[in-house]
Amino acid sequence: MTTSTPRRLQSGKASSTAGLTAMMRAVDARLAVDQRLADDRYAHLYAAFNPRFKHYVRSAATAKLSLKLFDRLFGGFLAEILLRSRHFDRVLADARNDGIDQVLLLGAGYDSTPMRHPDLRFVEIDHPATQRAKRAVLAKSGITTDNVTYLPVDLETERLAAVLTPEVFDRGRRTLVGWHGVTFFLEGDAFQHALADIAAICAPGSRLVFDYMDRSVIDGTNEYRSVRTAARLVARRGEPYRLGMDQQSATRAAEAAGFRCLEHLRVTDLIDRFGGARPYCSRKDFMGVLTVERA
Ligand SMILES: C[S@@+](CC[C@H](N)C(=O)[O-])C[C@H]1O[C@@H](n2cnc3c(N)ncnc32)[C@H](O)[C@@H]1O
Repeated sequence: MTTSTPRRLQSGKASSTAGLTAMMRAVDARLAVDQRLADDRYAHLYAAFNPRFKHYVRSAATAKLSLKLFDRLFGGFLAEILLRSRHFDRVLADARNDGIDQVLLLGAGYDSTPMRHPDLRFVEIDHPATQRAKRAVLAKSGITTDNVTYLPVDLETERLAAVLTPEVFDRGRRTLVGWHGVTFFLEGDAFQHALADIAAICAPGSRLVFDYMDRSVIDGTNEYRSVRTAARLVARRGEPYRLGMDQQSATRAAEAAGFRCLEHLRVTDLIDRFGGARPYCSRKDFMGVLTVERA
């Protein structure tokens, strides 16, 4: 990103990458059930403002075509974006079975998990600009989310430990933390601080799921030209990718903060596990998802 490109969130505009992920989930929801990669019946609320959306979802066939086009245009991000939510649905189901009933979503964007689990308590943290936009859409749609506490937080300048006070977050209770599509937008210090604070405020046995992006995407050396193009595009829109990791460094950071690793999946693992019989996404692999537990 050139120094003259204003940072989108800091200038008060909602995250466009959050809008894009919601768009992908909303178009995916137009496919037949057995072809969907995600399962998000609320994403259309956030996609509908885009005048192109109605064309994308005119039929299941146009939806499939649009998704393939997105996948090509946005470097192959589709599988990770759609299947990380499928993966989180499974982690959440397991956590519920194990008695965990408090969920914290960091950089929640237009995630609809709380609406699909109205009996669970959620705390949603997001940059104020995006959270404001999300709440405006929900209010306009007449959807109430009484099970959610919304906290506007800029993870670059504020500490989770300071905002997640006992009034809004039960530190004695085991928690499931979902942190999807966010770490690579942060500086290293903000990532480390958030990780340390999650460890400090979550009871032992709490679980955290976060994804990371390979360093090659950040430094422009990734083997896929489409990925390098997508990285330049988001930077031009004011949301540059900044933090790259690999399995070892992401695991080391989590362990140093007090977690132990439960599972590591690359994008191709997500496709093999959750993509169904004939997944329509490409298998370009430049991201991973880590599930860790507070020791
Ligand atoms: C690609 S979106 C992912 C949204 C959602 N988690 C999902 O998977 O659809 C990135 C999210 O990170 C949030 N974000 C980026 N930088 C942030 C910061 N400094 N503080 C808080 N949230 C931030 C954005 O507002 C946006 O909601």
